[in-house]
Amino acid sequence: MRSFTCAVALSAVAGQALGSVHHMFSGVFNGTDIYAIEFDDETNSLTLASSIVSTATSSKWIAIDERKQNIYVSNGAYTSLEYSSTVTMDSTCNNANYVLASTESPYVVFGASYSTVCPAQMMSVESDGSLTAVIANVTHGSSAGVHGLALTSDNEFLYSADDTGNAIWVHSVNITSGEVAEVQYLAAPTGADPRHMVVHPKGQYAYVVFEALSEIGVYSRDTATGELTYTNTSYPLLPSTYTNASSYWADEVQFSVNTNGTPSYMYAATRSQTTTIPGYASAFSIDAETGAIVNQLFLTETTGSGGSANSVPSAPFVEEYFAITDSGSNFVEVWMITTNGTESATGKAVAHLDVSAGPPNAVWFD
Ligand SMILES: *[C@@H]1O[C@H](CO)[C@@H](O)[C@H](O)[C@H]1NC(C)=O
Ligand SMILES: *[C@@H]1O[C@H](CO)[C@@H](O)[C@H](O)[C@H]1NC(C)=O
Ligand SMILES: *[C@@H]1O[C@H](CO)[C@@H](O)[C@H](O)[C@H]1NC(C)=O
Ligand SMILES: *[C@@H]1O[C@H](CO)[C@@H](O)[C@H](O)[C@H]1NC(C)=O
Ligand SMILES: *[C@@H]1O[C@H](CO)[C@@H](O)[C@H](O)[C@H]1NC(C)=O
Ligand SMILES: *[C@@H]1O[C@H](CO)[C@@H](O)[C@H](O)[C@H]1NC(C)=O
Repeated sequence: MRSFTCAVALSAVAGQALGSVHHMFSGVFNGTDIYAIEFDDETNSLTLASSIVSTATSSKWIAIDERKQNIYVSNGAYTSLEYSSTVTMDSTCNNANYVLASTESPYVVFGASYSTVCPAQMMSVESDGSLTAVIANVTHGSSAGVHGLALTSDNEFLYSADDTGNAIWVHSVNITSGEVAEVQYLAAPTGADPRHMVVHPKGQYAYVVFEALSEIGVYSRDTATGELTYTNTSYPLLPSTYTNASSYWADEVQFSVNTNGTPSYMYAATRSQTTTIPGYASAFSIDAETGAIVNQLFLTETTGSGGSANSVPSAPFVEEYFAITDSGSNFVEVWMITTNGTESATGKAVAHLDVSAGPPNAVWFD
């Protein structure tokens, strides 16, 4: 069994947002905690503000809603959280894995279990954001195992990164009526294994993490039909001299955040499969109008392997900041892009916080 949980916990910290102190949350792969973490951008320090202990047997990937009122948690098992509502799937699907909130009313939530054949689900929410029920299945092929989801900025198309079936699926979705229709199945390059993906807010490009190749694949997008075309272009998440991509597995991609919906950067990371060998983080410069990649700014060793996840949550306060989680050595870091005169940009960790269990990802509150 699997479930997706809404942890209504954010009012507890909302009043604490002061000046240069920012807040984020992370779940854990193993354990019941949701960590509330503070980042001070003047002192570049990370602090564990509190740990919201749930009654769940695990908290995993988390998402925050547009209104910053709710955190949605994908639980690996049939459980419930304190301060929560839970929607449990009446099926044999395991490994509730990825959860994503739509960005406009009625604020439905999408969840996927990383389990072959299991559909992704559209879930309705109450006016306060708590989960109500599964209102639609988003179905994929018989060999599909969907690891990541992405929504367009208009909430009209849902993209599924099918890791097991090596493909991308496109569905049109109506978040008001709950209607879902398959638009496209697109096989990925041989041996790519799409894991997570993003669609640029302007809609002309989608970027896909090729987990097994440790690359970012570039897809052009038809803004009317939602269909994707692979451009045959990809960017490496490993140094070009490396021939051991099978010793790594690429994890995550995210755009930076700005209020215009025209991100300047895109962040991505790959994990090393050996805990004592670091993974890599990368940033790309993004064309504000088209969403095309202008250039790859840096490809830098992370301070840990990443473990099962080195996700790259973009900061909402300054576009040059992002966080990195590491479940191999159990920490959260804040990184930033730095430049030095005319030297090219690089990325570096500016703050580090050890935590007691491995975080799959983090979401920024402010
Ligand atoms: C999960 O945490 C428990 C308690 O700390 C520990 O005994 C167990 O080995 C951990 N499991 C994994 C998979 O890390
Ligand atoms: C989703 O699929 C499951 C399994 O096939 C089915 O039991 C359930 O009724 C479906 N839910 C909706 C809302 O269509
Ligand atoms: C979505 O559903 C609503 C309610 O049924 C309907 O009014 C609207 O036209 C639909 N949107 C699209 C794009 O079909
Ligand atoms: C990508 O390469 C394939 C095989 O050579 C070719 O058929 C296809 O047209 C190319 N796609 C683009 C967008 O150039
Ligand atoms: C991959 O190969 C490079 C270059 O030989 C080496 O430095 C690195 O440690 C290897 N990575 C892993 C995870 O084995
Ligand atoms: C900037 O670059 C110069 C010249 O390479 C170097 O001497 C200096 O230490 C660098 N400063 C920082 C803050 O990295």
